[in-house]
Amino acid sequence: MRARWMVAVLIMGLALSSVVAAVAAEQATVPKIPGITAEDTHPNGCTDCHRKVSPDRDYSLATEIANMVKEGRHPRVSDRMLQDLPKQCITCHKPDSKYPFGEIMHSAHLTGGAENHFITNYQGQCMHCHAMDPQTGSITVKGL
Ligand code: HEC
Ligand code: HEC
Ligand code: HEC
Repeated sequence: MRARWMVAVLIMGLALSSVVAAVAAEQATVPKIPGITAEDTHPNGCTDCHRKVSPDRDYSLATEIANMVKEGRHPRVSDRMLQDLPKQCITCHKPDSKYPFGEIMHSAHLTGGAENHFITNYQGQCMHCHAMDPQTGSITVKGL
């Protein structure tokens, strides 16, 4: 009698632990999407990443432009056009222009696989740049 009772307890225990394991597995697989299922660590988008961290680590947008100019990949841009960023980028990178802002931003951050630091260091998350209004579902770009 006692042995049978113990088997029942054992089976209940096993059943319970598999439920616990299943719940844990489900929690572990919920993707961490900024502002959706996880804290939004870059609520201002571009400028939260593109800033001067230290004298030799200047990731500001003005410096990104200057670097591309040096590499012959970007026309020179006057300081006056680099005051309100990223808004002013749109002056030249309009949606219907030859270099639409969305397309050049997606190419810069989402191509190259493991070579691209946005993918390796920031999980290539769309929501570092985009934001969603949970009421309406509309998606915008932070800072534009
Ligand atoms: C979460 C951080 C993050 C955010 C947000 C972000 N970037 Fe970047 N950006 C990066 C990283 C990392 C790279 C370097 C990618 C690589 O390894 O090539 C980069 C690269 C760039 C480059 C260089 C491209 C080239 O071809 O040299 C430009 C320009 C740029 N970002 C502009 C922007 C703008 C504009 C926004 C907002 C619309 C933005 N970024 C948002 C992290 C970020
Ligand atoms: C005065 C106009 C102008 C402004 C302002 C401007 N751009 Fe550009 N940008 C261009 C043109 C023209 C090209 C194409 C250059 C080429 O292919 O030779 C370009 C190309 C680029 C490229 C692609 C470079 C490559 O290697 O393919 C990136 C990235 C870029 N711009 C980012 C930005 C960002 C970010 C800003 C705002 C901080 C900005 N641009 C502001 C005119 C502008
Ligand atoms: C580095 C910042 C950045 C990242 C990362 C990013 N986007 Fe964008 N996205 C933009 C910008 C800037 C625009 C252009 C907005 C404008 O012109 O008003 C845009 C526009 C768009 C558009 C409108 C069509 C177009 O190309 O202009 C779609 C759709 C889109 N993004 C989807 C995505 C998806 C899906 C991801 C993730 C796989 C993603 N974006 C990641 C910055 C980003």
